[in-house]
Amino acid sequence: MSEIDIDAVRADTPGCGEVIHLNNAGASLPPTPVLSATIDFLEAEARTGSYEVASSRVEDLNRVYDAGAVLLGCQANELAYLPSATHAWNAALRSVAFEPGDRVLATTSEYVANVYGLIQLQDEGVDIDLIPEESDGQASLEGLEKLLDERVKLVCATHVPTSGGLVNPVAEIGRLAGEAGALYLLDATQSAGQMSLAVDELGCDFLAITGRKFLRGPRGTALLYARSDLEGLRDPLIMDGRSARWTDDWAYELSEGARRYETFETNVAAKVGFGVAIEYALRIGLDSISKRVTDLADSLRTRLATSPLVRLTDLDGPQSGIVTFYVEGRSSEAVVAALRAWGVNTSVVEPLPSGFDPQRRVAQSLIRASVHYFNTEEELDDAVAAL
Ligand SMILES: Cc1ncc(COP(=O)(O)O)c(C=O)c1O
Repeated sequence: MSEIDIDAVRADTPGCGEVIHLNNAGASLPPTPVLSATIDFLEAEARTGSYEVASSRVEDLNRVYDAGAVLLGCQANELAYLPSATHAWNAALRSVAFEPGDRVLATTSEYVANVYGLIQLQDEGVDIDLIPEESDGQASLEGLEKLLDERVKLVCATHVPTSGGLVNPVAEIGRLAGEAGALYLLDATQSAGQMSLAVDELGCDFLAITGRKFLRGPRGTALLYARSDLEGLRDPLIMDGRSARWTDDWAYELSEGARRYETFETNVAAKVGFGVAIEYALRIGLDSISKRVTDLADSLRTRLATSPLVRLTDLDGPQSGIVTFYVEGRSSEAVVAALRAWGVNTSVVEPLPSGFDPQRRVAQSLIRASVHYFNTEEELDDAVAAL
């Protein structure tokens, strides 16, 4: 694991000269190579025609699959490029051939968009059960084991929730789901770009990630991993000439691998930029990134713990780069707005319905400060001073 050259990565990040960016769990600051590749492609589209440049620069469009395959330890044709993790996760959910009476187990850390998908399934007669938590907020493996039976068709887990530092034991969940013969859908939206992810180790059949957060890609970019040897799946709900080939008046043949989840029209320049963003993260190294992010987040928690009115709300388990807290007697919305006026970017997390919120001991909005490897200890000092 090599040391990250912080001066170099900051020099590569135009936003570092403008703001103290602690909203990497919302959307991070893209580095110059990502910006340049995206803008360059957009300009080429304007000069030469979008379809023409897409067909002459196929290698650029394939970078996202090639780099994504290295990032996740899978094959390039097991990846679909989609506009958001929500699209990716729901495409996976809807490809499972559920029947009334089937069961789905899900972690309490699921993102709101995932929960909406689960509510719809419930309305269609599928039983949904939440995996109990340990006292540190992590999904309980013992609790999961007790819930697993032959009716469980799918286990859903979120690696790192949107609303706190928690990291779920997702490889162990994958092992238990696999042993029980259930499919496993992993939401790695907040962990991608923060820590290493290898689909074989995680044991997942589907995995959703987004581009704009810790991977530092452009907005409107995401990947769905779908294991190539899955059988008995439903055809994607939305299809066009990229997802399938029209073979006869009333017949089609699905495209190979995960390409079936894609449609033709997409933000192609952002796709190129996303590929470059993944390559950038791989060059720095996910283990180095993970160490730096965890150290900075711990360091921020230590600083915040000494502020008299600040109440940290992250629980005790393994932590990510997301730090949540509130300031006694102040609304979190007002604090986030005031910090923003001081050039410090954070965000607000709303309280969730009680069953789904690992931070549920606090019935108010929280402030979310999410660090990345390009942040510095000096920035943390300045942010806490502004607070
Ligand atoms: C844990 C988690 N899952 C899924 C999503 C949805 O990602 P997207 O906005 O790319 O659909 C988010 C977004 O914040 C998230 O935090």
